[in-house]
Order: sequence, then C-alpha cells, then structure tokens
Amino acid sequence: MSVGGERSRRFLAERARSMRASEIRELLKLTEGRDIISLAGGLPDPQTFPREELAEIARRVIIERGNQALQYSPTLGVTEFRRVLKEFLSSHGVTVNSGDDVIVTTGSQEALYLIAKVFVDPGDVVFVEAPTYLAALNAFRHYGAYFKSAPLDDEGMRTDVLEERIKEARREGRRLKLIYTIPTSQNPSGVTMSLERRKHLLELAEEYDLLVVEDDPYSFFTFEPVEAEPLKTLDKSGRVIYLGTLSKILSPGLRIGWALAESWVVTALELAKQSVDLHSSTLSQFIAAEAMRKGLVDKTVEKARTIYKEKRDVMLESLEEYFPNSCRWTRPVGGLFIFAYLPEGLDTKAMLPEAIERGVAYVPGASFFAEGGGENTMRLNFSYPTKEQIREGIRRLGLLIKEKVGG
Ligand SMILES: Cc1ncc(COP(=O)(O)O)c(C=O)c1O
Repeated sequence: MSVGGERSRRFLAERARSMRASEIRELLKLTEGRDIISLAGGLPDPQTFPREELAEIARRVIIERGNQALQYSPTLGVTEFRRVLKEFLSSHGVTVNSGDDVIVTTGSQEALYLIAKVFVDPGDVVFVEAPTYLAALNAFRHYGAYFKSAPLDDEGMRTDVLEERIKEARREGRRLKLIYTIPTSQNPSGVTMSLERRKHLLELAEEYDLLVVEDDPYSFFTFEPVEAEPLKTLDKSGRVIYLGTLSKILSPGLRIGWALAESWVVTALELAKQSVDLHSSTLSQFIAAEAMRKGLVDKTVEKARTIYKEKRDVMLESLEEYFPNSCRWTRPVGGLFIFAYLPEGLDTKAMLPEAIERGVAYVPGASFFAEGGGENTMRLNFSYPTKEQIREGIRRLGLLIKEKVGG
C-alpha cells in the first residue's frame, strides 16, 4: 500500500508521499481469514495475557479511581505510573540516574517516532544494525534519515564495521546523530550483543559524539541468562535513550511504552508528543501501575519465558530436521524470532507466493536491511503459532526450499 493519484500529488506534503505500508502489515492482510500457518507476524501468544487479573484490576480502577483514570492526564504520563515504572526498571537492572526522566508513550513505536521527529533532520546519519526492526527504519525514514548499517554476527552488531561506517560518514561530511540498536534478542535476528561489543559501541558514541537509542522490548524474558547489562546501565555519559514496552510482558493492546533518558531528551519528546496525541491512555497507565505493583508483570514474564522457550526449541528442532544443510539460522536466547539464511541466489520475496500457496507465511528478510541485501533471508516467528503449526510450517518451508536448491 502506498499513497498515489493526482489528488494526492496536489495535496499531500512531500513527507507523506514517501510513506509506504510496512511489508509485514501488507503480508498479514494477505493471510487474514485463510487457513495459513503464519510464521510472519510478531504477536505475543494470547495464553500469556493474564485476563482474569487484568479484568479485576480494570474494574477496580474504573469503579474506585474512575475520576482520574477516565480523565485526561499529563503528556509525560500519569505521575504514579511513572514512579512505579522507574522502580520496576531499577529493580530489573536498568539504571535510572538522578538526572534522568521517563516519558510514557503509546507503545515504544511512538517513542521511536518521537525520537525521529526531534533528532533527525533530512540527511542526518542514523547508524543501524543490518538487519534491523523495519518500523524503526520507517520512522527514521519519515524524517529523511540517511542510514549507514553494520552487519550482525553471533555477538550482535559488528562494532568494528560500525566504526568504519562512522569514519566514512565523517569523511563524507555528513552530520552524525544516532546509533539505533536492539542489543538483546534483536528483531528480526534474535541475536544478543556481547558485553564487549556493548562497551565498544558506547566508546564509539563517546568518541564521535553520538546519541544511542537502545530499543529493549525483549530483555525481560530471555530464556537463558544474558551476561550483558543494558547499554543504559553501562553508559557513563548520559548518551543512551532507553526504550521499553509492556507489549511483550503484559499486553500490546494496552499500548504502553516508555523512553528513559536525560531529562533534556525527555522534555524534547514531551513537547513533540503534545501535538501527536496529548498523552497515552490514562486508563491503560492506571491498569499498568496496578499490574506492576501487584507483581502481575513479573508473573506474566515468567509465563512468557516458559511458553516461548518451548516454542523456540520446537522451531530449532524443526529447522534442524526439515531445512537443508545449506541453510543456517540464529539461535536466539529470547525474543520472538529466528532469522534464517538460505543459500545465496535464493530470493525469499519471490518465493513467498509459493509458500503462501502451500499454506505457510514468513517475512522476507530484505526489508530489514536499510542499505539493501538480505534477499536470501527470512524472519520466522515462534511466539504466536502453536507448536504443531511451527513444526508443520517449517516442514512445508523446508520442502519448498529443498525443491529450490535441489538439496
Ligand atoms: C524492536 C522493537 N521495537 C519496538 C517495537 C514496538 O512495540 P510496541 O509499540 O508494541 O511497544 C517492537 C514490536 O515488535 C519491536 O520488536
């Protein structure tokens, strides 16, 4: 989906003309209502939603505190929720400095958008991982970001390449702004950045005077212990803007995310947010505060950890069994995705209609690469489908790939 036609050319702003629908959303539409095993989306398993407890909290909040919970609230967020949130983050190893502040956003997606809006002028360089989260690329694109990317390996972003790309951008006389990274259980790759790389990334940010956007939806429910601390905690010079969300640890429908950063950053985001949506849902924030206080988020995290670990294992076993030896894939310690690399020459975008024909969908990997490439890659989601669907979906895909490569 894109915007076009004579009227649109006459009336739409330059900015809006370049808008494109995310390939993932288009794809999900294609599979809607059909009997297709979707390994394409990124939805949490509804089994993780604590329905009864949330219903009880919502009822109590509305009946007992409805005058505030159903009312407008400050742009920064409901004061009580922001206090509980800071405590939650501190108790989960995310350092909150005295000069920091937190703003509640409508999912972390809004935080990404606000960051693009307040920091990116056309042509400003944003350094990203290759591959990286598509909706972040689109938010930065909207404000004219110029991307330079560094590939990932088993230890996360190749910071040696990042350094080269930074130097290159400087030589080209560009204005350098941000490094955007998802250090833990990266989307789409599932890779986690090592401690050494995290430190190197922060050194580079310091040396070349860059801000770092740490997008962290997944570190709360890793299936195996991760030695590395958040960049926000390792950061000694206030360069990290830390983004989080309740989407994967309570419910995405509440649309609660946040940005934690030095207060000047939060003030800029607050001013930008005023004209976007005034504030995020007051009711959701009251519910979220209660859920955090009662330990419901931690309980949900434990449940998610168990469910997703099992599903990840089923996907890994199925890949081992059904994909040809010429393929490789990541082994994520958390998150919702495995990223597969097919033999060079195979084009996963071209192959998708055939896969859908056989009743299985995935996301072609190329759109996650800001500077092109990745045509032979695919993102596979294991959180939403059942274990049986994962096994069957991977079996069907494996067969299709084997036919293509003759292996
Ligand atoms: C890396 C990353 N960032 C941000 C988001 C946005 O999440 P939300 O807006 O639901 O908080 C997602 C969702 O999947 C994600 O994977």
